[in-house]
Amino acid sequence: MAEENEDQGLVKAFGKLLNLVVFLLLVILGLFTALIYTNSSKQKKSVVTAIERSFVVENSGSQNLNPVIDTTHYWNAPDEANLATDPKKERVLYGKELIAHTSIYFGPKGTISKESTNGMNCQNCHLNAGTKVFGNNYSAVATTYPKYRARSGTKEDIPKRVNDCFERSLNGKTLKIDSKEMQSIIAYLKWLGKDVPAGKKPAGSGFQQIAYLERAADPEKGKLVYVQKCQSCHQQSGEGLMNSDGTAFTYPPLWGDHSYNNGAGLYRLSNFARFVKYNMPMGASHTNVQLSDEEAWDVAAFVNSQPRPKKDLKKDWPKIEEKPFDHPYGPYADSFSESQHKNGPYQPILDASAKTKKK
Ligand code: HEC
Ligand code: HEC
Repeated sequence: MAEENEDQGLVKAFGKLLNLVVFLLLVILGLFTALIYTNSSKQKKSVVTAIERSFVVENSGSQNLNPVIDTTHYWNAPDEANLATDPKKERVLYGKELIAHTSIYFGPKGTISKESTNGMNCQNCHLNAGTKVFGNNYSAVATTYPKYRARSGTKEDIPKRVNDCFERSLNGKTLKIDSKEMQSIIAYLKWLGKDVPAGKKPAGSGFQQIAYLERAADPEKGKLVYVQKCQSCHQQSGEGLMNSDGTAFTYPPLWGDHSYNNGAGLYRLSNFARFVKYNMPMGASHTNVQLSDEEAWDVAAFVNSQPRPKKDLKKDWPKIEEKPFDHPYGPYADSFSESQHKNGPYQPILDASAKTKKK
């Protein structure tokens, strides 16, 4: 009997031990799954923020110094291989061709119309057919147009904006909206921006900002920069270099008869300085900068003080309080001179305009 009791006691003790072991196993298993779960959701979360971070909310203020938040996740153009079965393929690729080799079609020996532009290509200023990070790319076009633009004082759609560059940067004639060429350019711009969320502006779009100088940008100093770092390609009188068959520029002009006119975006010093700082000399990029801020501003002042075609600008900036700080022609809403608006120093102008906006 005593033995039996002892046995029962042992069985009970063993049963308790077994319960404990099973319990512990369950706890360990539970902890383990919890760990895996939180880890994977963390990973998911970090993927999401990486995608979200590559877009910054559209900022319409032309004087914002730091609209780009992220420094590592930049927009990439969609993959052309995925166009293979797309019914828009032909349109999109023709649009890209027109951006890259505009001169072949509309330049001095243009196959569609001769001399309806200055012979430049859109790609001369919208690098790699408008896909380069901080190379004035087109990533924000599809999602931010139509939009109000202060230069015209109206809401502009994509064809209007494209024709703006034809009339100003290419100092030429506009395209008919229903032409195959305009429709193809629009198709290409829309395709480039197809993965960008509505209303957003991807990081790396347009230009990267640079610091303002405390002094006015100096054309004399800029001339030295030009001779040392630009002239070998853009030539002594800024006239650029035509290819041997006269169909397109190998090196585009920076001033003179075949350059952009005084109503073009690059005629504003901040646009020019930001473009060259992150893109010139050819081969430079935001990760391989070759000019100091001073060199960029000074060479901008030198180039934009040289002669170039003139456009009738009477209708531009109908509301003078919306003129950008570096617009080189008065009248202005403030009392700073034309020359300070053209070459700076800009900070006093920006400070004054911030004050009046507060009031
Ligand atoms: C001489 C340089 C230059 C050339 C050539 C040029 N552009 Fe532009 N383009 C600019 C600049 C600079 C801006 C930005 C101007 C600004 O924001 O004030 C711009 C802006 C644009 C925009 C609006 C981009 C945006 O995100 O809002 C479009 C679209 C455009 N250009 C299309 C074209 C097309 C199409 C061509 C060829 C027919 C062309 N550009 C040729 C300099 C140029
Ligand atoms: C090695 C040759 C080379 C050098 C040096 C060079 N560029 Fe360029 N630049 C080019 C080429 C090529 C393009 C057109 C890019 C394209 O079509 O892909 C260009 C385009 C430009 C444009 C826009 C198109 C235009 O003609 O208005 C500007 C502005 C410009 N360069 C300014 C400069 C400045 C300022 C310097 C000196 C700091 C400089 N470049 C040095 C080759 C050069």
